[in-house]
Amino acid sequence: MEIVKQQNKMNCRLLMFPAPFQGHVTPMMHLSNLLYYKGFSITVIQTTYNPLNPANFPNLTFHSLDDGLFEAYSRCPPPDSFKVLDDMNSSCREPFRDCISQILKDAAGATDQDPVTCLIADPMFMFAGSVADSFNLPRIALRTGAMSTYVVYDSLSALREKGCFPLDETKLNDPVLEFPPLKVKDLPAETLHHTLSIVLNETRTSQGMICNTFQELENDSIARVQQAHPFPIFPIGPIHKYFPASQVSIWTEDKTSIAWLNTKAPKSVLYVSFGSVAAISEAEFLEVAWGLADNEQPFLWVVRAGLIQGSDNSYTLPEGYKDIVSKRGHIVSWAPQAEVLSHPAVGGFWTHSGWNSTMESISEGIPMLCLPLFGDQSMNARYVSEEWKIGLQLEKGVKREDITKAIRKLMVEEDGKEMRNRVTALKEKADLCLKEGHSSYKYLDELISYILAM
Ligand code: UDX
Repeated sequence: MEIVKQQNKMNCRLLMFPAPFQGHVTPMMHLSNLLYYKGFSITVIQTTYNPLNPANFPNLTFHSLDDGLFEAYSRCPPPDSFKVLDDMNSSCREPFRDCISQILKDAAGATDQDPVTCLIADPMFMFAGSVADSFNLPRIALRTGAMSTYVVYDSLSALREKGCFPLDETKLNDPVLEFPPLKVKDLPAETLHHTLSIVLNETRTSQGMICNTFQELENDSIARVQQAHPFPIFPIGPIHKYFPASQVSIWTEDKTSIAWLNTKAPKSVLYVSFGSVAAISEAEFLEVAWGLADNEQPFLWVVRAGLIQGSDNSYTLPEGYKDIVSKRGHIVSWAPQAEVLSHPAVGGFWTHSGWNSTMESISEGIPMLCLPLFGDQSMNARYVSEEWKIGLQLEKGVKREDITKAIRKLMVEEDGKEMRNRVTALKEKADLCLKEGHSSYKYLDELISYILAM
């Protein structure tokens, strides 16, 4: 689906504020491009940590916060994402206030600039709401994860009151009766609850919520969230499908991935990537390597910097490994994932079940092998394997024999074929919902009218 630039200008400027993690940057930048093409002027406010290259977005205006984050992080080892979240929330508030103040002042003093109508912010910024309120600037939240997981987050205090936490180690495989098909072990760890409650509050106090999902996939959860919130919800996804070619990676994509895929048979390749943040131990890394090697299936594997816990961004494969996998395996440090998943040679995706990866896989009709590693990923994986039945999950740790069996099941056995049929049917729904008269298209129109009436 390719959007054509709308000729009529909306005469308003939107401020976009992406959290500096790839899984959050991706949907926010696709949304920025989309709204630009719908006629809005767009300003992106970014932190100095993980910045995008503005040259890749010639139609958008960029502002960088004077937050000191980059300087702080360039002096120490790469921080974990929760530390970044904390630092970001303490360092960015005042620079963000100054930045908004300056943008509004500039817009008010100029006759050739569109007035600023609204801020679209990632609710991981726990101060954006109060800053926007102090300028009377309307704000919409972009929810980058699933609606089903949002419903669970929104119910955590009720679950706590019912005694679900701390999680009972003897009941981890029991069903969560309120949220089928989730199991107790899929619920978010208690250490995350405080952060989640602040992020939820940031969402709840906004004037609307855009989400990267579509009605035909998460109808019940969308309805539930809509019922529980006083503002409109806009499920306009899959957001990346409006502009399949736009370049939203923070890191450089290794294009040899595509040249290598071009040499492979249709649906023969397993694409393996565990997202932009999650890490595994060195022992698990070796099990993954041997699980892939002990299999006939060709594979394209992303080994990104920081994938191995405690490593200094380098990794060592066992001696002789490269010869053993030879032409059957290709390893890159960062792939053009959306392009990879849409390549005819790709037949399966071994993923950590981040929400963007899940949506990208569904949008291309690719069945998944799930290895959730933290946060919302266990819940996403449960929906993939047990609700939509479009993948299977590695649940008993990372062992090479289990990996080899699971890959066979996904790529060549009857179970895998059934998963492929079901995900193909979902892909068709995802394609349709973006077309005129269908769900995401209608929600996008509603979103635009809502912004124009602010
Ligand atoms: C994080 C959390 O892990 C996830 O659970 C949450 O839903 C969002 O934030 P992340 O680990 O980055 O996300 O995973 P995911 O949501 O799948 O996003 C990763 C993005 O990076 C995807 O858009 C994917 O296409 C892109 N990617 C990944 C690449 O472009 N190239 C790669 O090599 C790997």
